Amino acid sequence: MKSMVKMIKNLSSMFNPKAVCVIGASRKPGKIGHEILKNLINYGFGGKIYPINPEAREILGLKAYPTVKSTPTKPDLAVVALPAVYVSEAIEECGRKGVKAVAVISSGFKEVGNARAEGQIVNLSKKYRMRLLGPNIFGVFYAPSKLNATFGPPNVLPGRIAFITQSGALGIALMGWTISEEVGLSAIVSLGNKSDVDDADLLEFFSQDPNTEVIVIYMEGINDGKEFMKAAKKTVMTKPIIVIKAGRSERGARAILSHTGALAGSDAVYDAAFKQCGVIRTSTTTEAFDLARLFAGQPLPDGDNTVIITNGGGMGIMAVDACKDSGVTLMDIPKDLAAKFRKNSGMPTFGSTVNPIDMTGQIYEAGYSGAIKTALSDPRVNSLIILYCQTAVTDPKMIARAIIKTLKENGAKKPVVTSLVGGEECRVGIRELNRAGIPSYSEPQRAVFVIGAMHEYARYLRKRKK
Ligand code: COA
Repeated sequence: MKSMVKMIKNLSSMFNPKAVCVIGASRKPGKIGHEILKNLINYGFGGKIYPINPEAREILGLKAYPTVKSTPTKPDLAVVALPAVYVSEAIEECGRKGVKAVAVISSGFKEVGNARAEGQIVNLSKKYRMRLLGPNIFGVFYAPSKLNATFGPPNVLPGRIAFITQSGALGIALMGWTISEEVGLSAIVSLGNKSDVDDADLLEFFSQDPNTEVIVIYMEGINDGKEFMKAAKKTVMTKPIIVIKAGRSERGARAILSHTGALAGSDAVYDAAFKQCGVIRTSTTTEAFDLARLFAGQPLPDGDNTVIITNGGGMGIMAVDACKDSGVTLMDIPKDLAAKFRKNSGMPTFGSTVNPIDMTGQIYEAGYSGAIKTALSDPRVNSLIILYCQTAVTDPKMIARAIIKTLKENGAKKPVVTSLVGGEECRVGIRELNRAGIPSYSEPQRAVFVIGAMHEYARYLRKRKK
């Protein structure tokens, strides 16, 4: 059943439609069909928007149409927000009109045991050669076409990270989280029951999408493991894939079955498959987006040597411990480089040049700047972790600005991550660094984790390219 649908690979109508209709666009604020229409309008979608509602003449200032058949032009994408029993009729109508992709928001299909109804809408979409996203989803967002066809937050930040999620509520929650954390997204796709469009299809699309640099997937289960692996193996050669795979525990796996009707399968099998394909697996959503931010902003390292620069011994030691857990290779600093670190940072005699480079708590912006330049200019250093503990003699914001300026002026061609630990002022510094594309975290372990994962990915690529 799937193979023929698979032949219709073109998903671009779903992401770049010229016209969109919302079937079940309610007149009542707070109802799902109404909120989707509102998001579409408010996010600035440039194409035509057709609310479909037989009871309405106008909704949110737009002329409403009683049927898809009656719209003046053919919608490329139809968002269906009707109770499950009416969905197949709506899809048939879309097919007759020549719609190319349908996103079915409605719940009440395979996830509640209604496989027959789901089979019916899959067959219909196949009959009319339409792509079917869902059912049981919160919608689709694509920043380049200003398409927010979701009932999630209205003000998603545009960026370079594509986020694919099998869970609806978690997806919506993470949309909100990315806004408050200022993480920019190129796309958000709610996959729901994956009756047609699945992870493999989207990997294929995003691997060729110039607006996307890294792909994050929240996954509960895969229907077609072989297809996924094939697509993932190809995609990772140009874009990293980060997967948050839920259902590690037996109980978690059982919960998945009743959530999206997916079979979770053995966790060990997923682990092995991800490793083989070069897919990075994370345990938490924070780890996933921490990492995505790094990949979206920084180059890959050429080799394995990492240097830590810090103004706090304790923070440096915590980071060193984390390096062991995250597979980060701490460079043994050669004598000549140690001397340069000492001289260029202006650290006191009681500072240390044994990695971590501990410049001590009495170091200022100029010290950071000197140490960073030293690390950047030495080809034996492949990545850099900059740590800062708030002290009474420095202003975190000024340290952040010095880091940004130094990296900008010295055209960093190696990955750099930072961690600022302290009070509210550090949060300001972290924000400024992130805005400048230099990943910054509130704990050193988070910085170490992302660098470790990036090095592992770079090693995987080097091996595959041999
Ligand atoms: N074509 C177009 N519009 C139609 C219609 C048709 N054939 N038949 C009815 N409508 C109109 C209704 O009149 C209504 O508009 P109104 O409020 O202005 O009267 C609107 O479409 C919606 O229909 P309604 O019956 O009120 O549905 P609903 O809004 O209560 O529920 C869903 C629809 C899709 C939201 C609901 O069935 C559902 O599945 N909810 C769960 C969604 C979900 O959680 N998805 C997963 C997220 S992760």
